[in-house]
Amino acid sequence: MAYDDLREFLSTLEKEGQLLRITEPVLPEPDLAAAANAAGRIGDGAPALWFDNVKGFTDARVALNVHGSWANHALALGLPKHTPVKEQVEEFARRWDAFPVAPERREDAPWREHTQEGDDVDLFSVLPLFRLNDGDGGFYLDKAAVVSRDPEDPGHFGKQNVGTYRLQVVDRNRLAIQPVPVHDIALHLRKAEEKGEDLPVAITLGNDPVMAIVAGMPMGYDQSEYEMAGALRGAPAPIATAPLTGFDVPWGSEVVIEGVIESRKRQIEGPFGEFTGHYSGGRRMPVIRIDRVSHRTNPVFESLYLGMPWTECDYLVGPNTCVPLLKQLRAEFPEVQAVNAMYTHGLLAVISTRKRYGGFAKAVAMRAMTTPHGLGYVSTVIMVDEDVDPFDLPQVMWAMSSKVNAAGDVMILPNLPVVELAPAAQPAGLTSKMIIDATTPVHPDQRGNFSTPTKDLPEAKDWAAKLQRLLSETRG
Ligand SMILES: Cc1cc2nc3c(=O)[nH]c(=O)nc-3n(C[C@H](O)[C@H](O)[C@H](O)COP(=O)(O)O)c2cc1C
Repeated sequence: MAYDDLREFLSTLEKEGQLLRITEPVLPEPDLAAAANAAGRIGDGAPALWFDNVKGFTDARVALNVHGSWANHALALGLPKHTPVKEQVEEFARRWDAFPVAPERREDAPWREHTQEGDDVDLFSVLPLFRLNDGDGGFYLDKAAVVSRDPEDPGHFGKQNVGTYRLQVVDRNRLAIQPVPVHDIALHLRKAEEKGEDLPVAITLGNDPVMAIVAGMPMGYDQSEYEMAGALRGAPAPIATAPLTGFDVPWGSEVVIEGVIESRKRQIEGPFGEFTGHYSGGRRMPVIRIDRVSHRTNPVFESLYLGMPWTECDYLVGPNTCVPLLKQLRAEFPEVQAVNAMYTHGLLAVISTRKRYGGFAKAVAMRAMTTPHGLGYVSTVIMVDEDVDPFDLPQVMWAMSSKVNAAGDVMILPNLPVVELAPAAQPAGLTSKMIIDATTPVHPDQRGNFSTPTKDLPEAKDWAAKLQRLLSETRG
């Protein structure tokens, strides 16, 4: 099932019992964020949250926690809601192979219903803004997909980027944006600023669930998010032309905001509670001037709570971080079996691999640190043998506890790039990265006294089934 917009997905979530309508009156602060925060604390299967009775607003419609459980993530991909997470990642990886799927251009975008332009632009009249964490410096749009083009190659469809970057509302027609230097929009902005030019942007809010997944997905610089959305949806992604910038934007968005990142201007942005479970401080960030807002009647304001994991953000960026890393590594090292980069957006990754020769696992770990995402994130890599499942943490701990001899298996690589948000970086933006090689040494690496590993007995599988059957008979 491919959803063309957020509303279609919300109605499926409701049918599946995965959307909770909160009808009692709530305060915009702290209730909206506190409820979304709580959704991450009530165990798996948490629903999306819908609010339309928010005190102080006449017409607010707020959707939170839309991707905030494995059940909702499965439904976003059109899978049954009980699909185990490992199967979701495997299916995601299978669909990746259909890339690229050309998008379908449509004319009648629903967000064309209403327009504000120039001096009439007033975000406060369109969106029921509220703060997320109690130490945040202001209102944020943190689940938007921002479209920009390469100023040196604006006609290249693949280099047109669609990415999620947090946006602080600093005025009725101004936003501040946080482009992490390893991300594509930072490259676009650098090229524009070198020429002394503004960088046009189209910011799309309230998108179909696969658009939200690809906007936060670390693909190659010239790979199109729309063509990847088509592969993941199993149907071409519907796109439309934004009226002011002419950029390609999702057809089904609730709101499309167009304007420019003003060349070489910076202003204080933040603090903001981040995916690391820590606040970023206030820092000087680029500023966007909004020139046009297009929106549907009664737009749904989709937002996302993030902070101490797990939150919606962790579900949203879990599989979409694991799969690109897996594919990018396998392109050079077919021995790589699986990648679990679900922890703090892949600041830590667990990778299983077969080994060609001694030292191979460490080399694979170094490559993980130089993939598009690895450059700015992957800081600790735990390498495990091909028969260890990186998603099975007790197995990973077994490998760490029985295979690691720190003298030869722990490598510290000083002063490598990392997102400034990484709390342990020193200085911000640089860190020492670590490889823990928990694989069994192979020739010519002769370390250790590894004898033949024990394996589950061949008959254990049948016995497991038998024990389960007997147990259920006994328990009735
Ligand atoms: C909710 C959410 C918020 C994010 N905020 C930012 C941000 O403020 N700045 C940033 O550079 N990346 C942010 N990201 C991460 C990027 O969207 C993600 O790494 C993406 O792959 C970047 O793609 P790009 O390299 O194509 O720009 C965020 C992701 C999500 C899901």
